[in-house]
Amino acid sequence: MSRILKAVIPAAGLGTRFSPITNAIPKELLPVVDRASIQYVVDEACEAGIEEIIIVISEAKESIRQYFDRLTSTTSASIKYVYQHEQLGLGHAILCCSEAIGQESFAVLLPDDIIHDEKGALTQLLEIYSRVGSSVIAVQRVLPEFISSYGIIEPTVADDVIKVIGLIEKPEIDKAPSDFGIVGRYILSPMVLEILSTINTGALGEIQLTDALAQLVSSQDLYAVHIQGERFDVGNPTGLLKASIVLALRRQDTATDFKGFLGSIL
Ligand code: UTP
Repeated sequence: MSRILKAVIPAAGLGTRFSPITNAIPKELLPVVDRASIQYVVDEACEAGIEEIIIVISEAKESIRQYFDRLTSTTSASIKYVYQHEQLGLGHAILCCSEAIGQESFAVLLPDDIIHDEKGALTQLLEIYSRVGSSVIAVQRVLPEFISSYGIIEPTVADDVIKVIGLIEKPEIDKAPSDFGIVGRYILSPMVLEILSTINTGALGEIQLTDALAQLVSSQDLYAVHIQGERFDVGNPTGLLKASIVLALRRQDTATDFKGFLGSIL
């Protein structure tokens, strides 16, 4: 089993939930306290020992590149950029990285999910990967009212790890096989790229990663890790606000001032 050296960060989406700010600024550059939200996942990848980060952007999102060009001296991994010219979905964004990835297993981190824990979420996945040696995805328990917004796994327990035997994207609650929802961290075998290359755009005009994973389980093992940590969905405005408030309260340099302010308005 080879070490995971490369990580893909898909950041080419349209970000319509942040319209109109995304007319001028990619949502991934919106700040959480004093840094771009995407920097939290870049830092998490570096902490996990990733050596090469591949960020998927579009021509309209060059400013992401400019942001990191000025930071690279503080980033331990090298950063490469791959362009997705048409927004055909997350699966397609990953497929655009086939050449850059080659035949190795690789990590994927979605910048929409900031996960705050002492041990980074990707590090938690890598620990299980080093035991099982095949694809691993992160899951957390999802409240019933949110199940229809997630990819949900059908799990079995195998030697104290969760084995995935099926996946359903955004099921109705009565069709959900569990309450384990997929969150944005993955370690994937290169076979996922092969499968993605054969998938047509579905009803929504997008190539879905979950569809590729659902196919993967019929020929390769896929495991899930119930990861620890507070997760913020910074892909929507209220999630970004929550992340900003909680992380400002967790940081020594901002906590006292901010706590005082919150106390004064509540
Ligand atoms: P989302 O489904 O959140 O889409 O993508 P989005 O376009 O970013 O946001 P909305 O729904 O329009 O508000 C999940 C992740 O996949 C990336 C996004 O950048 C985000 O990190 N993505 C999505 C791509 O890179 N390319 C795509 O074609 C679609």
